[in-house]
Amino acid sequence: MKIVVASDHGGFTAKEAIVKALEKLGLEVLDLGCRTEESCDYPDYARKVAQAVSQGRAEKGILVCGTGIGMSIAANKFPGVRAAVVWSRETAHLAGEHNWANVLCLSGRLFSGAQHITMIRAWLAAAFGEGRHSRRVKKIIKFESLSCKPRKS
Ligand code: RB5
Repeated sequence: MKIVVASDHGGFTAKEAIVKALEKLGLEVLDLGCRTEESCDYPDYARKVAQAVSQGRAEKGILVCGTGIGMSIAANKFPGVRAAVVWSRETAHLAGEHNWANVLCLSGRLFSGAQHITMIRAWLAAAFGEGRHSRRVKKIIKFESLSCKPRKS
């Protein structure tokens, strides 16, 4: 499985450790930056990972910023991307089982390296639940063809 990983400065140190850990697990990892702790803009890195997943160049992605929130908001703008912020082994597992999340968004500032790896492993090991979960995710996928016009006042 190919997995793309990126961070902003808030997630840089965590991302470096995550890349090494994923390689140790035998996964094919592509590190899309950033390269230093210098301040940068998280949407630029969310875009790199989300485009790779959206275009089918990678099966899954991991994004790390200060909270994980900005990365998830940006990544979810791309078709086919289901990016989830997770904060525990349980939420990481459920993001895979219930939401079929193909991008995991992590906080680099609120969790330790060991906690990141626990969450990533739970997400990677989770099998999509199918059944009612499939019905719900299909509804989300349909939202991609909606265009919402501003309400006339
Ligand atoms: C950068 O300071 C911070 O805003 C960013 O890493 C992230 O937490 C945004 O959601």
